[in-house]
Amino acid sequence: MLYNGVQIPSLGFGTWQIPNFQTAKCVTTAVKAGYRNFDTAEGYMNEKGLGEGIRRTMGELGVERGELFISTKVWNSHRGYDKTLRAFEESMKKLGLEYLDLYLIHWPAVSRWHDDWREINRSTWRAFEQLYREGRVKAIGVSNFLAHHVRALTEDSEIKPMVNQIEYHPGFGQVESASYCQANGIVVEAWSPLGSGNVLKNKELARIAGKYGKTASQTCIRWLLQKGIVPLPKSTHEKYIIENADVFDFALSDADMLDINAIPYCGGMRFDPDSAWS
Ligand SMILES: NC(=O)c1ccc[n+]([C@@H]2O[C@H](COP(=O)([O-])OP(=O)(O)OC[C@H]3O[C@@H](n4cnc5c(N)ncnc54)[C@H](OP(=O)(O)O)[C@@H]3O)[C@@H](O)[C@H]2O)c1
Repeated sequence: MLYNGVQIPSLGFGTWQIPNFQTAKCVTTAVKAGYRNFDTAEGYMNEKGLGEGIRRTMGELGVERGELFISTKVWNSHRGYDKTLRAFEESMKKLGLEYLDLYLIHWPAVSRWHDDWREINRSTWRAFEQLYREGRVKAIGVSNFLAHHVRALTEDSEIKPMVNQIEYHPGFGQVESASYCQANGIVVEAWSPLGSGNVLKNKELARIAGKYGKTASQTCIRWLLQKGIVPLPKSTHEKYIIENADVFDFALSDADMLDINAIPYCGGMRFDPDSAWS
């Protein structure tokens, strides 16, 4: 649950790199498999497809809008109060939704590229606070914020972020950011929970997965769930979509959790938010 009382489903479905024309089909497949939390972004160019998938789900599968949790993000070129408000309206038009569950700042403005990075982030955030107060979004948050970015944002803002979505998978956990957020009541979501598929070849992960009769992918997802982090696996294959949701019938032991924590970098983007994007 988010600190404002909004329920966030513990497992999400990622849609980055799913072409718009394929997104609605993936969404309905995912809803049938049990997912209720869907992540997109202005930059993924598939908000229309996601909205279409949600409408099909509600029509054909009888799922209520209130059971679904839909997130999108404002892209870097639309930071700042006015541009953010406009970008939000554009996203909502594409999604075709009456309200959004979660709106995220996709990447922080950072000191490497902007002398006034704090003011840029605060100005974007002021638009987020307004959308939240108006009830257009049920929750607001950030993505790719390191602890010092979150601290700077919250110093003189009225509403604290409810979520921080960061890269987190075996071999690359942003432990400091995650711990800071969790200690401050901010829910952490893991992007690229499978390291974009690259960590699945890791032998240690396969060894641990084998002990439970599960796949490496299910083991990554379970490891995150047990850390209280919301994983957002993406797939375009029905088999994988179903497999990735079948993670609630086993529990990794403390020793196996520690062994997965110790896996060295073995794939994934490993972006540094302090320099990745201007
Ligand atoms: N906030 C941000 O800046 C940010 C950045 C990146 C991602 N994200 C979010 O996080 C989501 C997930 O990240 P991601 O898309 O990078 O990658 P991911 O979920 O870590 O991995 C997806 C890749 O793994 C493959 N895969 C999925 N399940 C599998 C399974 N059970 N067995 C074998 N292969 C499997 C997929 O293949 P197929 O698709 O071919 O089935 C795809 O190539 C994104 O979709 C997006 O919503 C956010």
